[in-house]
Amino acid sequence: MEPKLLQILRSKGGNTPEQELLKELACTRDMLLNAMANLNGHGYKIILENQKWELVQEPDTPFPWEFPGRQNTIHYLPVTTSTMDVARQLAKEGCPHLAVAVADRQTRGRGRMDRRWASDHGGLYFTMVLRPDLPPSDGFRFTFLASVVLADLLKKLCRIDVGVKWPNDLITGQGKLAGILSEMHTTSGNIDFLNIGIGINVNNTPTGLETRAVSVKMLTGRKFSRTALLREFLDRFEKELHGSNDFNDVISRWKKLAHSLNRQVKIVTRNKIVEGFAHDVDEHGSLVVRLADGTISKVRHGDCFHV
Ligand code: BTN
Repeated sequence: MEPKLLQILRSKGGNTPEQELLKELACTRDMLLNAMANLNGHGYKIILENQKWELVQEPDTPFPWEFPGRQNTIHYLPVTTSTMDVARQLAKEGCPHLAVAVADRQTRGRGRMDRRWASDHGGLYFTMVLRPDLPPSDGFRFTFLASVVLADLLKKLCRIDVGVKWPNDLITGQGKLAGILSEMHTTSGNIDFLNIGIGINVNNTPTGLETRAVSVKMLTGRKFSRTALLREFLDRFEKELHGSNDFNDVISRWKKLAHSLNRQVKIVTRNKIVEGFAHDVDEHGSLVVRLADGTISKVRHGDCFHV
């Protein structure tokens, strides 16, 4: 009942007569009062004045009921080790495609290449469980899609000039805004689940672990609703998943946003360093680098530094 109740209270903007709520929700007064008490116990402030209800305050917390149509697939935790751990557990227990683990804080947030991801209050930290019917070699498509969808969203919603850095960082001239981490589990040559974890510096002030990290709030001077950001991201991402299977389109969109092309780069992988001129990303998501001796190297994984 909570999603519909919130929707009605928000759409009325001001005071809503109790009779109207009872009619629209087709419930008893006891049921209505229970739902109000539940919401008020979670940081909302809904008050009754002259037989009219008003929503006067709401928390920016990604409770499942804030995602109409997704209530059963959003798993919200105030604090956890890492949403990657939660999502892996959910996936192993058989959760459906596009289940999401989201947390306010992570005590052991993980980044790529075994780095830590600082996860203070105010940021948005979530992991989606995907179950594409594709071979593991196609898994990289989804992280590229996620970075393109997120960059487009941040541009539109927050008016930030954000670009992508290979493979999947979201960066601005002032520093890194968001990072994406993926983990895949395969069985008999197919993807069993592919978990995509996204950390976005929204209303937090990133310090320490990430060099040159910025947040939406630092860039815009405004606070943004993490809940609205997640809701919109999931809707757009899901729509794109169902929309086109033309992955080259995703790569060409990524290239238009890319900060790591047509420049000197240094790629650090676990066992080698590749330095050269990055001039393309191929159909497998590999960075195509021309080395000093003129040969071409295609790099699949690693950390990219602009030199
Ligand atoms: C990177 O840029 O190195 C990737 C960072 C990914 C961070 C997100 S936050 C949500 C999810 N849970 C984690 O522990 N990591 C990812």
